[in-house]
Amino acid sequence: MSTRIYLNGSITGPEEAKISIFDRGFLYGDSVYEVIRTSKGRLVDLERHLTRLYKSAAAIALDPPDEDTLRAAIANTLASADNTESYVRLVVTRGSGEVGLDTSLAEGRTTLVIVKPLVLPTQAMYEDGVAVRLVNVQRTSAKAMDPAVKSGNYLNNIMALSEAKRAGDYEAIMCDRDGLLAEGSSSNVFFVEGKRLLTPSLSVGLLAGITRQRVLEIAQQLGVEVEQGHFGPERLREAPEAFLTSSIRGVLPIARVDGVALRLGAPGPLCAQVMRAYATFLEEGP
Ligand SMILES: Cc1ncc(COP(=O)(O)O)c(C=O)c1O
Repeated sequence: MSTRIYLNGSITGPEEAKISIFDRGFLYGDSVYEVIRTSKGRLVDLERHLTRLYKSAAAIALDPPDEDTLRAAIANTLASADNTESYVRLVVTRGSGEVGLDTSLAEGRTTLVIVKPLVLPTQAMYEDGVAVRLVNVQRTSAKAMDPAVKSGNYLNNIMALSEAKRAGDYEAIMCDRDGLLAEGSSSNVFFVEGKRLLTPSLSVGLLAGITRQRVLEIAQQLGVEVEQGHFGPERLREAPEAFLTSSIRGVLPIARVDGVALRLGAPGPLCAQVMRAYATFLEEGP
């Protein structure tokens, strides 16, 4: 079990990997990234993650390395780390240069892959659920730095999570400026009404989570009706069951919203069904 780093062509241990203090990823969050996990040693949804990375890079006019370079960097770092299961963080920054916001100051780019042993939420969190809080920090508007872009600029989400943590909760759920449910600080959110599964529409302004998309496909296979829409926070507060999704968590049940337990417990019956189907997907692949 080890942590190995790919940095601009070389694979080393974490202590040897150094970037410039002028790197724009460090100074401004001027970067894009993806987090991918392995299951049975296989990278889960690698293709979808690479596609999203290229979309994010295009949205901020950042020139990423070609796909072969990224695939080889990930594969070689994974092989070097030799973990049973790994957490993989792929980061591309606009590189370093003279200090200043102007992107034309950037020289080159920094390509980084961090591979660590995979640490999942605890068994108790999957069995008993987690507490979430609807926070005051708003999800940034799609007309500001579009939340659909997975950039390294996460301060807004960090502040949202801090608000939830101060209240003793596990994850923050943000609404947009109109008060519509958006997403977690590093997760998407689903909830149940009757026999239906509801999740905020991408048009609210949120990250198109790879796990969110998988869950939408699983729901279709299970014959569960899904609505992607514009919902107020009370819909989540009053839901009988709910869950979070993200690449590292998979499907994680929500036990409490703003300190109040959801009626059907965690995981509720529909959440448990989706969790089982997602576990099968992780075992067998698409
Ligand atoms: C803001 C935000 N929303 C949602 C997600 C979940 O996305 P995915 O399922 O692709 O990991 C993440 C993951 O980091 C995130 O940062």
